[in-house]
Amino acid sequence: MSGKTFRALVVEETGENKFIRSIKSRSTDDLPAGEVLIRVHHSSLNYKDALSATGNKGVTKNYPHTPGIDASGIVEESTNKGFKPGDEVLVTGYDLGANTPGGYGEYIRVPADWVVMLPKGLSLGDSMVYGTAGFTAALSVHKMEEHGVVPGMGEVLVTGATGGVGSIAAGILAKAGYEVVASTGKADQKQLLLDLGVKEVISREDATDASGRALLKARWAGVVDTVGGDILATAIKSAKQHGVVTCCGNVASADLPINVYPFILRGVSLLGIDSAYCPMDIRKKVWSKIAGDWKIDRLDLITTEITLAGLDEKIELILRGGQKGRVVVNMK
Ligand SMILES: NC(=O)c1ccc[n+]([C@@H]2O[C@H](COP(=O)([O-])OP(=O)(O)OC[C@H]3O[C@@H](n4cnc5c(N)ncnc54)[C@H](OP(=O)(O)O)[C@@H]3O)[C@@H](O)[C@H]2O)c1
Repeated sequence: MSGKTFRALVVEETGENKFIRSIKSRSTDDLPAGEVLIRVHHSSLNYKDALSATGNKGVTKNYPHTPGIDASGIVEESTNKGFKPGDEVLVTGYDLGANTPGGYGEYIRVPADWVVMLPKGLSLGDSMVYGTAGFTAALSVHKMEEHGVVPGMGEVLVTGATGGVGSIAAGILAKAGYEVVASTGKADQKQLLLDLGVKEVISREDATDASGRALLKARWAGVVDTVGGDILATAIKSAKQHGVVTCCGNVASADLPINVYPFILRGVSLLGIDSAYCPMDIRKKVWSKIAGDWKIDRLDLITTEITLAGLDEKIELILRGGQKGRVVVNMK
């Protein structure tokens, strides 16, 4: 199929630091070369999408551009033997939605080695409730476990817990049998976190040390940090002997005000998480855990479904730190 017309959210640069968004008609002929053409059924909203949609050149160099780092849908054409028309697939990360037209268009065309078969047990829609945020949460738990943290070893902390990565990390850890403590800036969302299976909810202030001490009372067997800055530094200083801390985000700050003592006196490990270029073998393993043992029972608690027209409002909300759970974009 060639030259099919479709709708997409297009971000255009209209002047220095001026960007506008609108829904436009595009053609599949405008999509880059690639082996797999996918009719997008669902996408999702991640923090990185909001940056791309508002002209952040660290994420997207050239405009006009269609954001959307996540997409699930059905293969329409494939020149790669691994995929055939009708296959249900998903794509998260790589360059999708960054400098390659993304999931906020009804079609994407991508290299075959970016594409994952939809794992059994997940619908196209549910896979995008997870999307990059959920995959990042699951990858964080996977890496923590690889480094020796298992249920029964003590409390694990999730920061930014009502956000996309945080809420799914909290849900997965609870499902896997961990004692989960969640830190949040949204006191009114305590019940949501308890419903996801969290044991205790603490405030951002409680999760932020003001003493400046090099080591704090040892509490966490593991930490999934999604915010960076003082909260991450406090979590590292509060990790137990041989505790494991994962780091994926910087919504609070990209700085990490800490010295080496937690690492050399308590043997704490700090693991970096990069979901975008996660190798395909690990990617498939993590998606099958998401769809299997780690599948969250109450995904509905954290899901808001919108269409392309509803994105503007949600982009502003996520940039203000107000996102709760996951926003799924229905592209059907
Ligand atoms: N490395 C990777 O591969 C990867 C993948 C996906 C995302 N990320 C990054 O991970 C971070 C989280 O992404 P997300 O999609 O979960 O974003 P999100 O949905 O906006 O969630 C972020 C959460 O962090 C908390 N927060 C916001 N502003 C804060 C502040 N100033 N100080 C402390 N906490 C604050 C809020 O939760 P509470 O109100 O509950 O505290 C917010 O809901 C982002 O930095 C994103 O770029 C990285």
